[in-house]
Amino acid sequence: MFVLMSAFKAGEVDPGNTTRKIVVIGSTGRTGRLVLDEGVRRGHSMTAFTRRPERLEGVPRLTSVVQGDGRNLDDIRRAVAGQDAVISIVSSEGRGPTTVMSEVTRVELDAMREAGVRRLVSVSVSAIEGRRPWILINLVRWILRKPYADFARMERLITLSSVDWTIVRPPYLSNGPKTGRVRTQTGRKDLPHGPYHISRADLAATLVDLAEDSQHVGEVLLVSELRKSG
Ligand SMILES: NC(=O)c1ccc[n+]([C@@H]2O[C@H](COP(=O)([O-])OP(=O)(O)OC[C@H]3O[C@@H](n4cnc5c(N)ncnc54)[C@H](OP(=O)(O)O)[C@@H]3O)[C@@H](O)[C@H]2O)c1
Repeated sequence: MFVLMSAFKAGEVDPGNTTRKIVVIGSTGRTGRLVLDEGVRRGHSMTAFTRRPERLEGVPRLTSVVQGDGRNLDDIRRAVAGQDAVISIVSSEGRGPTTVMSEVTRVELDAMREAGVRRLVSVSVSAIEGRRPWILINLVRWILRKPYADFARMERLITLSSVDWTIVRPPYLSNGPKTGRVRTQTGRKDLPHGPYHISRADLAATLVDLAEDSQHVGEVLLVSELRKSG
């Protein structure tokens, strides 16, 4: 691990330097890994927070790996202190009742407030309010109603907080390649038309874009692949 020295405090943007210190909570997940790769590729200082650091062995050029559980304030404090931005991509396993997303978020917000870190980019799910494509989404929403209830709790905590937040709601996630063709929508609950999917690689790039500056602060952002005709 190496330490980058900066005259700028956490959360302040150095206008002459576009390099950011970004911590990823949920870093070993399928999207989390791609966020680490994308951030490193852009020259950012990337910190990975995970319960399972062995899964990151061999990942090149990370600034640090912090081991811990996202529900533990001391663990998250160690990861968040000194960062410019937090990207949170936490998900529970299975379809049962859970409080993981809301618990981790509550702890992230406490740690960010203590450390003076302002920027939070957090991944939720489009289906908590989306209605299209309606048969499929209603089925998914019913099957996953218990985890989705916790995503709703997570979103409430974030929107009531005073950090510079952006909530990103993707539809179905694929493992396809990065296309760079991403559609973003704010101020609405639903995507007006398909495609109703996005690759994890495109989602990862969008999350890093958001962590780089203050675009879409205080907004819920629907993202999906941009259809070829535009
Ligand atoms: N699958 C879909 O089609 C779909 C659609 C819309 C939205 N989403 C959402 O998009 C996001 C990304 O999905 P994905 O498939 O890439 O995720 P994933 O592979 O399931 O990864 C989930 C992450 O959650 C983290 N996590 C779980 N419990 C934690 C805890 N107690 N403390 C800290 N971290 C914890 C895990 O971190 P560690 O193991 O590293 O600790 C893991 O990296 C998720 O929020 C998912 O719900 C998915």
